[in-house]
Amino acid sequence: SFPQRVKVVEVGPRDGLQNEQSVVPTAVKIRLIDMLSETGLPVIEATSFVSPRWVPQMADHAEVMQGINKLPGVSYPVLTPNLKGFRAAVAAGANEVSIFGAASELFTKKNINCSIEESLERFSEVMSAAKAASIPVRGYVSCVLGCPYEGKIAAAKVAEVSKKMYSMGCYEISLGDTIGIGTPGSMKEMLTAVMKEVPVGALAVHCHDTYGQALANILVALQMGVSVVDASVAGLGGCPYAQGASGNVATEDLVYMLNGLGIHTGVDLQKLMDTGTFICNALNRRTNSKVSQAACRL
Ligand code: HMG
Ligand code: MG
Repeated sequence: SFPQRVKVVEVGPRDGLQNEQSVVPTAVKIRLIDMLSETGLPVIEATSFVSPRWVPQMADHAEVMQGINKLPGVSYPVLTPNLKGFRAAVAAGANEVSIFGAASELFTKKNINCSIEESLERFSEVMSAAKAASIPVRGYVSCVLGCPYEGKIAAAKVAEVSKKMYSMGCYEISLGDTIGIGTPGSMKEMLTAVMKEVPVGALAVHCHDTYGQALANILVALQMGVSVVDASVAGLGGCPYAQGASGNVATEDLVYMLNGLGIHTGVDLQKLMDTGTFICNALNRRTNSKVSQAACRL
């Protein structure tokens, strides 16, 4: 059976834009987040406090955090790979952060320039500082259904890293199919292993749609009791350290499916589609949302 309600975590302003080649003006990012805030989304990942040398697109993180209109009841988490990022995020007014690890050694090295073990040490420093400041921390685990450098990833490895990050104090673990390579079968196998170590109520899925499997994989996760799903408006995005990977499942398509299943999200689909149109116009690109494409033809 399905959950009665699903928390949709919008990652478009971060995951969606981090990979854009041309600089997206800060004002466009702020407008995007402000429009998303009006749709009823409960969580909007706003930016990341990573090195501007590594990810130039997120260099305006402080300006974005200070420019947005934070609505009560909406949280605006940001990525923080280490203590330096955490401190800068807090100084810019962040009220929630995310640490991001992976179930693959090679991906961890390419993405955050350390081993899995070193990453966990850095994360525990962030956790202590966050605890002292009463800031909730979300944890990402990337490459849960495959890695661009290592290929297949064992479900047991995903369970191990997820357990460590959950035990550290992350209130939620978001399981990332970074390259969108999974299928409902591998999603089920992976979740079965992870659910032995982390309560299902603390799990989220984060599906990129490279192979067109995202909605099918999400449906399986919902059937298994997962009730938090990450998505990106207009299906924007990708990871700079996973070449060729396309964006997350489009938030419009996710909300359309959940509406059809009678699952409550609190999100206004029309306002969401208008936001998708806004950002696609600003980026001069066609939407990846099938629902928006269909609505244009009707
Ligand atoms: P490093 O070079 O190993 O760091 O990078 P370092 O500690 O050796 O420091 C080197 C320089 O970076 C120093 O500056 C530091 O001050 C600076 P210098 O003295 O040379 O001038 N530095 C920083 N600057 C700003 N913010 C910071 C920071 N930390 C150090 N936080 C680091 C390590 C993690 C910083 C780097 O590898 C990095 O920024 N990586 C970016 C990773 C990233 O953003 N990836 C994309 C997001 S993850 C993703 O998309 C997957 C996800 O969506 C889930 C999924 O799909 O699976 C979440
Ligand atoms: Mg991602």
